[in-house]
Amino acid sequence: MKILITGGCGFVGSNLAIYLKKNKIGNKINSLDNLSRRGSILNLNRLNKKKIKNFKIDIINNKALQNLPKYDLIIDCCAEAAVEASKKEIDRVFFTNLLGTFNILKKCVKDKSHIIFLSSSRVYSIDQLNKIKKNKFLIDENFDTSGPKSIYGYCKKSSEDLIKEFAFLYKIKYVINRFGVISGPWQFGKQDQGFVSLWIWRHMNKKKLSYMGFGGKGLQIRDVIHIKDVCQLIELQIKKINKIHNLTINVGGGEKNSISLKGLTKLCQKITLNKIKIFSIRKTSVYDIPCFITNNSKVKKIYNWNPKKNFPQIIEDVYRWMFSSKKILKNYIK
Ligand SMILES: NC(=O)c1ccc[n+]([C@@H]2O[C@H](COP(=O)([O-])OP(=O)(O)OC[C@H]3O[C@@H](n4cnc5c(N)ncnc54)[C@H](O)[C@@H]3O)[C@@H](O)[C@H]2O)c1
Repeated sequence: MKILITGGCGFVGSNLAIYLKKNKIGNKINSLDNLSRRGSILNLNRLNKKKIKNFKIDIINNKALQNLPKYDLIIDCCAEAAVEASKKEIDRVFFTNLLGTFNILKKCVKDKSHIIFLSSSRVYSIDQLNKIKKNKFLIDENFDTSGPKSIYGYCKKSSEDLIKEFAFLYKIKYVINRFGVISGPWQFGKQDQGFVSLWIWRHMNKKKLSYMGFGGKGLQIRDVIHIKDVCQLIELQIKKINKIHNLTINVGGGEKNSISLKGLTKLCQKITLNKIKIFSIRKTSVYDIPCFITNNSKVKKIYNWNPKKNFPQIIEDVYRWMFSSKKILKNYIK
């Protein structure tokens, strides 16, 4: 099986490409990435070492995309992954995250290939998520998606709808994964995306941080899944795609891997032995949500799969990676 991973020099794409190559899943793994994310150049070096070719193409360049070799499966990990980018860079988010999917789907039709799509837990309506702030409530696939969800979330949901239209018309097989927060080594965290890695880095280097929104107390809760669990699930999905396809599933760390920012701070203090100043910004972004914890029942049932790595293991793995690569990472994580 020949596999193209778009966004292959990103956090998820690079880890996945290397995992699939190592486990001999597919006989050819290629990447498409325009290297726009800070740090993606380091991931490109990792791919080069494993002899995984990257095509430096912008996903909105349809002509270049269609001229790539033929693939049996496209795993779409290409996106502007920051929800907040929807405000400042609306055009880029829209074109990359929605037109990009459209172009990939045309390539799937041309090649008669299947698609595994990296969607997001942010397809759910913000106003409905805001209502559940007080009680811990696990979000399943039937949660409301009708209201505003950020331009990022809109592009993910619309991409899902486009995939279903293409599957209906052209018989493309698809799997849509609505992932919650993913973390692990080789994520270049920044203020608006990749908060676990940013939190560890700032503690490690005694830099400042801020709790933003919802009173500025660090009470927002998210569940976090380790990248290795993501790779293992996608391996299963690839192996079973002829039998199990055309489904949309929530995937996340689940209740046992959920944590508040305040809780994360404590764990970071413990592992780095550093205590840093954390500022408080009370104002809440319209796009922020107080709590998201994934209900994994459907993915568990369909694939007999469970995330294995717990939160302390995630922290440890990221910390070890940062510690061993501290010098070079200084230019890529602020
Ligand atoms: N990381 C998470 O917590 C998380 C959670 C849910 C969903 N997702 C989704 O998973 C996918 C991968 O996320 P990630 O964390 O690896 O993000 P990432 O930013 O690390 O990787 C995305 C890659 O896409 C590339 N890219 C961006 N715009 C491009 C363009 N126009 N043309 C070609 N390449 C382009 C970037 O250079 C980058 O290497 C994304 O679709 C994201 O929305 C991520």
